[in-house]
Amino acid sequence: MDKFVIQGGVKLSGDVTISGAKNSLLALMPATILSPGEFIFDNTPDLRDVNTMSRLLQVMGMGVSLSGKRLHIDSSTINKYEAPYEQVKKMRASIYVLGPLLARYGEARVSLPGGCAWGPRPVNYHIEGMKKLGADISIEHGYIIAKAKKLKGTRISFDTPSVGATGNILMAAALADGTTLIENAAMEPEINQLAQFLKKMGAKIHGIGTKRLEVDGVEELKPANLATIPDRIEAGTFLAAGAISGGAITIKNCIPDHLSAVLSKLEQAGCTITVERSSIKLESPEALEPVSLATDVYPGFPTDMQAQWIALMCRAAGTSVITDSIFVDRFKHVPELNRLGANINVEENVAVVRGSVNLKGAKVMSTDLRASASLILAGLVAEGETEVLRVYHIDRGYESIEKKLQKLGAQIERVKTEEF
Ligand code: EPU
Repeated sequence: MDKFVIQGGVKLSGDVTISGAKNSLLALMPATILSPGEFIFDNTPDLRDVNTMSRLLQVMGMGVSLSGKRLHIDSSTINKYEAPYEQVKKMRASIYVLGPLLARYGEARVSLPGGCAWGPRPVNYHIEGMKKLGADISIEHGYIIAKAKKLKGTRISFDTPSVGATGNILMAAALADGTTLIENAAMEPEINQLAQFLKKMGAKIHGIGTKRLEVDGVEELKPANLATIPDRIEAGTFLAAGAISGGAITIKNCIPDHLSAVLSKLEQAGCTITVERSSIKLESPEALEPVSLATDVYPGFPTDMQAQWIALMCRAAGTSVITDSIFVDRFKHVPELNRLGANINVEENVAVVRGSVNLKGAKVMSTDLRASASLILAGLVAEGETEVLRVYHIDRGYESIEKKLQKLGAQIERVKTEEF
């Protein structure tokens, strides 16, 4: 077990390079099931979640290996159409194998994910979507058992846009008979990259980047290669780190367009933002202004940046109100931030952050990926020493975060510990 030990008070400076996007790869890797053959993904980050997905594909018989930033997948050796509980319990995104398995092999047995660290996260849109595509689905012994001779194009309209269900249905519809219409689809860059990748494999998809996706099913797809887009949430987290520390940093290898909601809020908080083609420079103001916001689907402010924004607002000169409209109970970081001296009250899905507090170092506990990121941000400015326990959560989605922060001047060390 590792922990981070942080000495607060250093103003970050310098530049940091952003890694490939976790949530892109978690959708792209299962897409390889759709066509037996060899695939290469460049710009692959070395993350626990990518390892978990690799392991799942290996358990299904596929060849997966990472050398440097290049991920090789050989999907031709697949011999099991199943995502066992042991894998799915580690990572909910395992459900992404459901659509491709059904579409390519006509059967899938996928463990139900159950709750996540911060509360219930249903998968009913995935199941209903597959049913609408003609699959026979039953739930038995905690598993989704799905069968279909051949999926058939249909019209699917989400009540609220879902990243995962849009991705799963896109993959299934790519090999279905006829046309599938997905309305109120997710428009996140990671879903757009999945759709582009499927097109590279030979899928016929129209409306990429819009709420209305139209998929004309094809008989077969072929393997393809791709470089993963930069991780916009990692980029946003580093920008928040620069801002909370009162420093000036440049993030490199990012797509500024993917961060427009975050950049606009940072500007409202008083930061000076200079955008170039693939880099963003952030200069902090003397004092941060409080900025309220509500998370929303893309291109709105991402729920995956909510925890980091709350940490940042602890340093603002005034009160801000942060609402999570996507995951209404994603606030496990708040009691931990309050242990560092923050003054945050949560009622339902709304956090009221009273800023201008002097955070003071303490031991805090990571509970999930983005919660851990917010605790590290707070540790960067807390007086004295902060210990962030259970950093395996952060390793799920941030590649070598402590090394990248050290390069920016932060005093942060990864230390082995018996503490849990
Ligand atoms: N929803 C349902 N039923 C479903 C699916 C979703 O009601 O079957 C609801 C959810 O409860 C939520 C909303 O729809 O209120 C949106 O959830 P979505 O399906 O979009 O989330 P997801 O696909 O499970 C992905 C990311 C999350 C990110 C969300 C929202 C991946 C692997 N995960 O999850 O990333 O928070 O979209 O943008 O892409 C993270 O990286 O830390 C993370 C949690």
